[in-house]
Amino acid sequence: DKFRVTSKPTFSICNNVKYFSHSEKSTEDKGKTAVKKIFSFESMINERRKQAERSILVQVQSDHSYPELHSYCSQHGTVKEMHHYSLSNDLHFILVEFSNVEDVAQVMDVCGHINQSDVVPVKSPLLWFRVREVGSNINSKLKKSKSIPVVDHLPPIKRGNVVLPSSEITERLIQATTHSQQIEYMYTLSQLDEVGTRLRFFTAHQVECALRGLFPNMRALPFGSSVNGFGRKGSDLDLCLQFDEDFVKRKHREEGDDSKAAVRLVFQAKTTVASGRAQIQRQMETVGDILQLFLPGCTHVRRILQARVPIVKYHQDLTGLECDLSMTNLTAVYMSELLWIMGTLDSRVRPLVFFVRHWAKAAGLTYESPGPFITNFTLTLLVIHYLQCCKPNPVLPSLSTLISMASPADRRISDDGVNCTFLRDVSNFAPSKNKESLQSLLFGFYEFYSTFDFHGKGLSLAKGHGGKSGIGITKPDASPLYVENPLERMLNVSKNVNGEELERFKIQLRNAAWIMEELVEHSKEAVLQEGSIKHGVREKRKNSSPWGLMELLNPASKNHRDNTFSVGTMMRINARGRLVKVTDLFDDSDSLKTPVK
Ligand code: GTP
Ligand code: MG
Repeated sequence: DKFRVTSKPTFSICNNVKYFSHSEKSTEDKGKTAVKKIFSFESMINERRKQAERSILVQVQSDHSYPELHSYCSQHGTVKEMHHYSLSNDLHFILVEFSNVEDVAQVMDVCGHINQSDVVPVKSPLLWFRVREVGSNINSKLKKSKSIPVVDHLPPIKRGNVVLPSSEITERLIQATTHSQQIEYMYTLSQLDEVGTRLRFFTAHQVECALRGLFPNMRALPFGSSVNGFGRKGSDLDLCLQFDEDFVKRKHREEGDDSKAAVRLVFQAKTTVASGRAQIQRQMETVGDILQLFLPGCTHVRRILQARVPIVKYHQDLTGLECDLSMTNLTAVYMSELLWIMGTLDSRVRPLVFFVRHWAKAAGLTYESPGPFITNFTLTLLVIHYLQCCKPNPVLPSLSTLISMASPADRRISDDGVNCTFLRDVSNFAPSKNKESLQSLLFGFYEFYSTFDFHGKGLSLAKGHGGKSGIGITKPDASPLYVENPLERMLNVSKNVNGEELERFKIQLRNAAWIMEELVEHSKEAVLQEGSIKHGVREKRKNSSPWGLMELLNPASKNHRDNTFSVGTMMRINARGRLVKVTDLFDDSDSLKTPVK
């Protein structure tokens, strides 16, 4: 029994998906063009969940264990794919995907437990591949099994889940030849990769496996950046637990199947001990206990039950993921679907969002810990809103357009009654007439919000460019920043942002717009001087100095100090359509640029 059900704790890191928007192609596997088009979020989720069910996670001695593990696994089923990753303290893992879920059961049938009295003998697909002891007897179950098949062509192992050090990202951005390419590189280098995505679904699967005895149809659904197309390596895993009743009800309603109503045999069941929120808090507490006491790799379990949405936070040491588990948060899953669709509609959306998020972090606007800071989620909505407002041609449609195009099959009502109906199959959606480069759109983003009247207006993704009534909505309250929740319109997703943080955001927007204006002007001039762009880039590569948009990502290296903006700087667009500083009312920019912790 080489497989041991693991109970050894280890440590972290993470993550990507290969689902493409209209014109995207996979650049993985050099030269091979594995283009796979999936236009439905639900089919993507279902496929990934099935993949996780067909998989086992095996801790190995090193990546050299791969051929031996492949042979060993092939005795019990057909190995489809194997993915290797390692965590920060040099622990190695291989995620093995079989062709069938039955193969996983067969493998688990030959697993044993560590012979130690202090081990909780949990059976799960999280395993450890022991080093073979010389001269050891082969397990009796194995003796009966077929001889190890000879694999003629061992498929190459796939590797991933490596968070690149910032020095390597810097090196790659230096090598880019245009500003747009820098934005593109930032996206491709930091987005979730295939292994990272598989690990996220596998981590969710572990929770489902644990509760399956009580709730065979329970679903642990990843949401947020793990699935919305804006995930980066290292981001957390947001999970939503569902006992499945709502799902089954909805499914039957959708399929017009009334047969359940006529069933004679119904399950005996307990009534809930408390109403609504109190019941959920109690259940979450128990789930937290199960994670803490029984599930291999789950450590640092924290129950945050008084939050608006009660959650259990934990770290999965074997997949290296920080997880936030909640219940009945289906609206957030539909929100992820909406963002995924927006990212799928145009291949420029995701690179832009990634760049803006990186910029905001470098500018000290976003923080890991909660507070009055702008969040990555709000930034994503701001980018989408800007892309809806581009003139003369928007890059993205308004949410109202997607709602008006919805068919009955798109009808979704979340568990808390929120109507989340909008067009889901966007495969036939006409591509945008807007053909601007990433550089141009990024510049436009900074210009748009540098001059936006945050004081007087709120933003609405439902409204988008707003037609005749203009951009923005009347703010329903006095929040400094008002970004309407696209699915629950009476809520402001940026309610937490205070006046000071909004001011800092505006200053950084103006700084970025100013820096970009210079960069864009400079590159235009360079184009006019024959061959100088290539010449310039070669020179820069020679001394490996950061250039172009990298200036926006490293505020400390700014050599535009004289040109940057402070509180009170007035902006206007001049007759040539350029952003100009009108007046500095006072200057305390140094103190304002120091990141607030
Ligand atoms: P990163 O984890 O930073 O990569 O991005 P994320 O989109 O996953 O953000 P986060 O983990 O903070 O939140 C997960 C999901 O919860 C988001 O994608 C949203 O769907 C939802 N969410 C986060 N913040 C808010 C909020 O203020 N209001 C609402 N309604 N939903 C939110
Ligand atoms: Mg998240």
